[in-house]
Amino acid sequence: MLVAITRKVPIVACDMFKQHALTIRGGKNSTPPRRVELKKRVKGAHAILSLLTEKIDKEIIDAAGTQLKIIANYAVGYDNIDCAYAKKKGIFVTNTPGVPTEAVAEHTIALLLSVARRVVESDRFMRTGRYKHWDPQLLIGIELQGKTLGIIGSGKIGSRTAEIAHAGLGMQVVYSDIVQNPALERATGATYLSLDDLLKTSDAISIHAPLLKKTHHLISTAAFKKMKSTAILINTARGPIVDEQALVVALKNNRIFGAGLDVYEHEPKMAAGLAKLSNVVVVPHTGSATSEARNAMARLAAENIVDALSSRVPKNTIA
Ligand code: GLV
Ligand code: GLV
Repeated sequence: MLVAITRKVPIVACDMFKQHALTIRGGKNSTPPRRVELKKRVKGAHAILSLLTEKIDKEIIDAAGTQLKIIANYAVGYDNIDCAYAKKKGIFVTNTPGVPTEAVAEHTIALLLSVARRVVESDRFMRTGRYKHWDPQLLIGIELQGKTLGIIGSGKIGSRTAEIAHAGLGMQVVYSDIVQNPALERATGATYLSLDDLLKTSDAISIHAPLLKKTHHLISTAAFKKMKSTAILINTARGPIVDEQALVVALKNNRIFGAGLDVYEHEPKMAAGLAKLSNVVVVPHTGSATSEARNAMARLAAENIVDALSSRVPKNTIA
C-alpha cells in the first residue's frame, strides 16, 4: 500500500513505513509542494501524511481516489484539512496531540519571559553597540510573580503552560474555554472566567485554542480595548485567532505592553508594520521545534497510518 508524504519529516516515520512494507512516495523536499505536485503526489495513495502548510481540501481528497483511508496530519492543529468532507468519504483524519505539549508550553513561557523582560530588544541593543553604561531606567520590564495569566483554551498545551507559570513563576491562573476544566483548577487553582472577564483581569494572555469559525479574530480591536495597558499577549496557537492588523495598532499605541507571536494571520507573512515594532517578539512557528517533539510527532503520525492500513481505528482519530 502507498503512503504519500507531502514534505520531509523525521526519519522515524519512513523507518516505520518500511518495517510495515508500505511504499513511500514523496517526503524528500523540505519546501511545501505546489498544488499540481500535491495532486499528483496523492493520486492512488492509501494514506497521506500531511503537514500544516498543505491544504488538504475536497480537491486533493478527490485527486487521491477512493482507496484513500487516512489523512494523518503531522500537527496538533488540523484546520488545514476538510474534516467534514473526509468524514463523509469514510476517511480517517488524525493529528498528533500530546507529544508536542511540553515543547509548545515551554516555548510559550519563553515568549512570555522574552516580552516581559524585553530580551530580544535588549539583544539588539547590545549588538548595535548602544550599551554605554548601566542605567536604572534602561529596558525596564515586568515581573510575572503574583501576576495573573489568562489561558484561552485549556487543552493539553494551555493546561501545561498554566502549570509551569503557576508552579515555576508563581502566577495566578484564570482561563476561558467552552467547558470548565476541573483538572486544571485542581492543579493550579485556576478560575474559570468568561472571555471578557479574562481579558479585563489578565496581566498576560496566552492563546491555546484551535482555529475554528468561532475563534477567528477572537482577539480584535474590541478585545484590545478590554485589556490592561500593561498586558502581554502570546499566541502559539493559530495566527487568524488574532486580528493582526488590530494588534499592530494596539502595540503601536501602547494599548498593551507587548506581544509574543509564533503564528501569523497570513503565515509566513507578517502584518504591515509589525516588524518595525520593538514591543513584539516574533518567531517562525517553532513552538514544537524540539527534536523530542518532532520525532514523537513523526512516530505518532506514522502509527496512525499503520493502524488505519491494518484495519484498526487510529488512536488519534478526529473524523
Ligand atoms: C503546530 O502548529 C501544530 O499544530 O502542531
Ligand atoms: C536592564 O534591565 C538594566 O537595568 O540593566
